[in-house]
Amino acid sequence: MQLCQTNAELALALSAAREEGRRIGFVPTMGALHEGHLSLIRQSKADGHFTIVSVFVNPLQFGDGEDFESYPRTLGVDARLVTDTGGDVLYAPTPQAVFPEGAGLPEPDPGELGDSYEGAARPGHFAGVLKVVSRLLDLVSPDAIYLGQKDAQQVALIRRMVAEQLESGMRQPVSVVVMPTIRDDSGLAMSSRNRRLSEAELEIARTIYPALVSAAASGKDASAICELAKAALSPEARLDYLEVVDEQFEKVQGKPPAGSRLIVAANVGSVRLIDNVLIGGE
Ligand code: PAJ
Repeated sequence: MQLCQTNAELALALSAAREEGRRIGFVPTMGALHEGHLSLIRQSKADGHFTIVSVFVNPLQFGDGEDFESYPRTLGVDARLVTDTGGDVLYAPTPQAVFPEGAGLPEPDPGELGDSYEGAARPGHFAGVLKVVSRLLDLVSPDAIYLGQKDAQQVALIRRMVAEQLESGMRQPVSVVVMPTIRDDSGLAMSSRNRRLSEAELEIARTIYPALVSAAASGKDASAICELAKAALSPEARLDYLEVVDEQFEKVQGKPPAGSRLIVAANVGSVRLIDNVLIGGE
């Protein structure tokens, strides 16, 4: 596994792989890697790709008062995990390499979807996500990008951005591969932030997934599904939103169409947790 900390090193590694006729798979992350991230690397490898994993804690997607400074940074451990998982390159750039001053980089517009759900709670978050993903796609030029279903709204926005950039001729085709959410034994979706939960808070967090699953399997309409899930959640989980949305992330009224998801955000202690399940089961 090769560690690249500059864009020049990354470009060299990429051109060597291209010369060998390899296709490139790209797994963008903010580090503090866990099984959720590793499942994306494994899939990229299983698809035969020369696999680039980026670790970059993107300042643009953190709002004021969010945890940018305290976000876990564990590059040494991450490098070992990427090596053990078969990743070919770990790209860990400086902010200056990703966002050079005065570079006039594209600022993809998340539109209305960027202001709802996660975007309502975190103004500017998705503009920051799309800007860094667009920039990283330019630097890596992958054939495929691997994303986790856990961040369903992020997936919807990146899919749309990639399609728009392809249509406008500014990007070569890149397949967006979405992988299922990896959970711990209790069903809690793995997240770098879970390590901040105390034992008591973990108990509360662990009520989220079973509540979603039983409500999503009920066969009821959207509002009844939400009521069922709310009733099954620990009252100590401070709910931000709980909603049924379709594949475009439009709120569903009545019977959910195929592909709809039950999405949730809740605060437990100081940690914001998000999760989602497919209506009718994965
Ligand atoms: P990060 O939170 O580090 O997540 C990196 C990738 O891992 C994302 O695609 C995310 O959906 C996926 N992931 C996280 N937890 C997962 C789990 N439990 N199961 C499956 N996949 C999981 O998402 C980001 O970073 C950033 O917004 C990024 C896209 C890197 C842009 O900065």
